Parts: sequence; C-alpha cells; structure tokens
Amino acid sequence: MKNNFSIPQPLPRIARFEELGFGLFLHFGLYSLLGKGEWIQDFEKIPVQEYERLAERFTVEKFDARAMALLCRDAGMRYACLTTRHHDGFSLYDTRGLSAFDAPRSAAGRDLVAEFVEGCRAEGIVPFLYHTTLDWRWDSKHCSEERFAEYLDYLNASVEILCTQYGEIGGLWFDGNWSRPGADWKEDRLYATIRKHQPEAIIINNTGLDARGALGHPELDCLTFEQGLPGAPDRSGWPKYLAGESCETLNAHWGVGARDFLFKSPATVIERLCACRKVGANYLINVGPQADGSLGGYEVELLKTVGRWIHEVGGSIYAGKPVPAQCGGQDFLLEAEGRLYYFAHALNVQGDKHVVPGGGNGPRSISGLNRKLAGARWLDNDAKIPFIENHDGSVTVLDCHGYDYGTNLVVRVAELSVAV
Ligand code: GLC
Repeated sequence: MKNNFSIPQPLPRIARFEELGFGLFLHFGLYSLLGKGEWIQDFEKIPVQEYERLAERFTVEKFDARAMALLCRDAGMRYACLTTRHHDGFSLYDTRGLSAFDAPRSAAGRDLVAEFVEGCRAEGIVPFLYHTTLDWRWDSKHCSEERFAEYLDYLNASVEILCTQYGEIGGLWFDGNWSRPGADWKEDRLYATIRKHQPEAIIINNTGLDARGALGHPELDCLTFEQGLPGAPDRSGWPKYLAGESCETLNAHWGVGARDFLFKSPATVIERLCACRKVGANYLINVGPQADGSLGGYEVELLKTVGRWIHEVGGSIYAGKPVPAQCGGQDFLLEAEGRLYYFAHALNVQGDKHVVPGGGNGPRSISGLNRKLAGARWLDNDAKIPFIENHDGSVTVLDCHGYDYGTNLVVRVAELSVAV
C-alpha cells in the first residue's frame, strides 16, 4: 500500500554510484582453469587438496588489467568489479600471511588486485572489489558457531587488507550471506572496518537469487538483483535512499564456461541496460576471463558493439533519472539537467521499397509528463521529430519514424526540450 512518507535524498556517494550506470563484472579464479563455471569444485565435489593444486597451473600470462579497463571504456562502462576471492577461498590479492592460498603464492606470483585497481585508474574506470562471504575451505555454511566466529575474524581481516592496501576503491561487493541464513554475520563490524578506511566506498551485499531487491543491513548502499531486471522501488518512508543494481551473466555462468554457448546478443544487452536505467538502476554485466586471463573474442566484440551504441545515443544513460510519466511498451523517459530523453524501442527499418519486419513506427504517446515541449530530435542523426500535445502537456504524442535503411539502433533515443 502506498504511504505518505517522503523519499529520502541519496547520499553523495550513492548519487555518484548511480551515475556510473554500466559496469563490468569479472569472475576470475582457479576455477577458470577448468572452464566449467565458478561452482565446479562444489558441484563435482573436488577434494580441497586436489583443487588447491590448480594454483600450480595458475600462470595467467594473459591477464592484462589495463586492457580490461580499456575495454570497459570502449564499452561505455564506468566501473568494473573483480572477484578478489570467490567461494573456493582463493584470493587474487596478497593476503599477507592470512592464508597461503592466494595469487602471489600461486604460479602467477602476482597480486592481481593491485594490477586491477591500477589498470582501472589508468583508464578512468572505478574499481569495485567482489569478496565472498561463503568460504568452502572453512565450511562456513555448516561449521560450528565457534569456527564460524573464527572465520568471520579472518573475513574481517581479509577485507581490511583490501581497504588499506589498494588506494581508494569504489566499493565492496559481498556475496554469500544467503548461504547461512539467520546467522549473525557480524555485519556491523565488517562495514565499520570499511567505513573506517574507505568512507566513500559503496557497500553491497548480494541478497541472492531468491531475494532480489530485498533490504538488508542499514549500512548497505544498494539493492541487488542477481540474474534479473529490477523493478522500480517505492522508496517512500525509507530511512536511507538505496541505489539498485542488476548483475547478469553474458552466457549461463559467471566463471568461464568453455562449453556454454548461451550468449546474450548486443541487442539484448542494450535492451537490458535500458530496462535498468528506466528505473534508475545500474547494470553490471559479467565476463569470465579464460584460463590464461584473457577475455573471449565474442565477449570483447559484443561489449565494444554496445559501446558504439552508447556513443550513438550520448551520455543520457548515465545522468538520466526516471521520470514519472507513462509511455507505451518498453519505452520510457529519463531526465538529466533539465533535458528529457525518450527511449524508443522496436522501431522498424524503412527502405524505399521495403520495410524490414519487426517492431513498428508511428505515434508513441506519453501521458502524465505535464510539461510542454519546445522541440524533439533524435540524438543519432539530429532529425526533428514532429509531435502534438494537449494544452497542459499531460498527453504528448511523438511521431516516431523508423530507422533510415542501413541503420537499426535497437533502442533509439530522442532529446526533448522543455518549453520555458
Ligand atoms: C551467486 C553465485 C556466485 C556469483 C554471484 C554473482 O551468488 O554463488 O557464484 O558470484 O552470484 O552475483
């Protein structure tokens, strides 16, 4: 039921996070050597001692953090999030004696988190660090309360390393509290550790597949929507404004799946990015680097293609905020710095003698905008869009033409200027 409470203002760090908009998730670890996803140790019940030996083969000669960050830039992304430790307990960073199971002590002999944050900064990409809270080496899911308390000390000390040894980081992204529901994860202490060293870091803790969009600890800054699109949250009466983020795989696994062909297309990624921005949420799309640390060719080309689309439609997707007006189909409006942007889906391609099927053209109506327009134009080719509206701007109809033959942007963006 709708209440009458007001909507809180976002803290500056949360407002900045929302403007990052689009990011790259990177799942990389020992499991990448097996090419069967990041859960393979658990699913195939690989004994810990056997799994550990993968560290001897973890040479990662093609792990190039700068190249990854450059790809983010080319893809129109503003942040990247690397799995610094996943459920297998292997850390990509130097655990400084907390554990011998880390990248500097593997065949790689490198601190990949140090490389990652440097690479990101060199390309203007904000680095985020994923850290597991579920740890199979500690049997954190089933272990005794005493052992669990010991594990949480270790987890806290691990996170403190990430917060003190790698300069300013954009945020910490936790995952695994869902594995021991109802347990006291000592979140107060963990988040206080972060706030002490990284007061501006965004703190996220994935609520998992079964609780998308659920609220958690008050120190958290963002709702998570794993493998799904976010709805528009009703934030009225909330003590704090939380951002939203959907994270999705590009195929069916987070860690590389050598025989996983279920790849999304560039069009799907564009549409899902738009669906997130429609409700003000960020979109974090995942790539699992291959055994040697390199990125797959299809993934690279796909992301660059999405980047070319972002280039066509300008920066509206970052700063744009949702507008409470009703549009037809998947269409929606964003507003940034007094400008309105209309996102038109499913337009046809027009040709002299033929029209490529799929989608439709013609009038698209917006109701409840309550503003009169001074003009409308497509961002991609500057063409004017004819429109009609009623006397108070409560109904506006844009005459949306299809694409010129030779073009199909999947989602086309128009800038609407408001009459003063
Ligand atoms: C899930 C999985 C994990 C993955 C994560 C990303 O919680 O356990 O493997 O890292 O989702 O959102």
